[in-house]
Amino acid sequence: MWSTPRATRSRAAERLNGVERSSRPRRASGLLWATLPVAVTAGLFWYGRAHTPDYASSLFGRRFDDANQLKAQLGTALLGLALVQLLLALWMYGRLPGLPTATRSVRTGHRLVGLAAFLLSLPIAYHCLGAYGVQLADSRIAVHSFAGCFLYGAFVAKVIVVRHRRLPGWALPTAGGALLVLIALLWYSAALWRLNGYHVPGL
Ligand code: HEM
Repeated sequence: MWSTPRATRSRAAERLNGVERSSRPRRASGLLWATLPVAVTAGLFWYGRAHTPDYASSLFGRRFDDANQLKAQLGTALLGLALVQLLLALWMYGRLPGLPTATRSVRTGHRLVGLAAFLLSLPIAYHCLGAYGVQLADSRIAVHSFAGCFLYGAFVAKVIVVRHRRLPGWALPTAGGALLVLIALLWYSAALWRLNGYHVPGL
């Protein structure tokens, strides 16, 4: 049976209405996910500025200079894990010439190394936040403090991007790249600074 142009138009309008109605909650939930990394970063910054530093707080039983020395070593291990992550990601994207196509175990390895990096960062950041908080006294310390807060926003963003498969293809490498840059910046501005006799070029 043929339908009149009017009936066709009203069906089309109904369909459009349905699409709009169903895309509205999706847009709202997208906005909610996008605010989560910002909220984590802002929350850490607020806490780091608001609480009173406890310079004597301990890291695995070490305090003051000893704790900072240990943090510099753990931070270097963290950078090592981040670089392994980069190599595994390049392998998965087929960007390492001479290597066969990445298998499932490469993907699992990437996940496990990522989890290990996240867990390793926690005691370091916990000590930094407790002992010093967010300090903006000079450019090196300010860069370090900002990078520390952004790091956990970036961790959250990466997990969100991994779980939301509808996002564009560049989202995952961008989130992963941001994590690597932040870890490198944290290492450079504090761990290398310390291991290099309290000096790094440019900061
Ligand atoms: C919320 C996250 C973080 C905040 C707010 C933060 C903040 C700070 C501040 C204010 C200091 C004292 C400034 C200094 O003397 O260098 C410090 C020290 C330090 N931070 Fe962090 N940090 C964070 C995370 C990290 C992470 C993930 C690393 C790993 C690389 C790290 C490594 C270090 C090291 C090694 C020191 C000691 C430097 C020294 O010998 O004085 N921090 N942090």
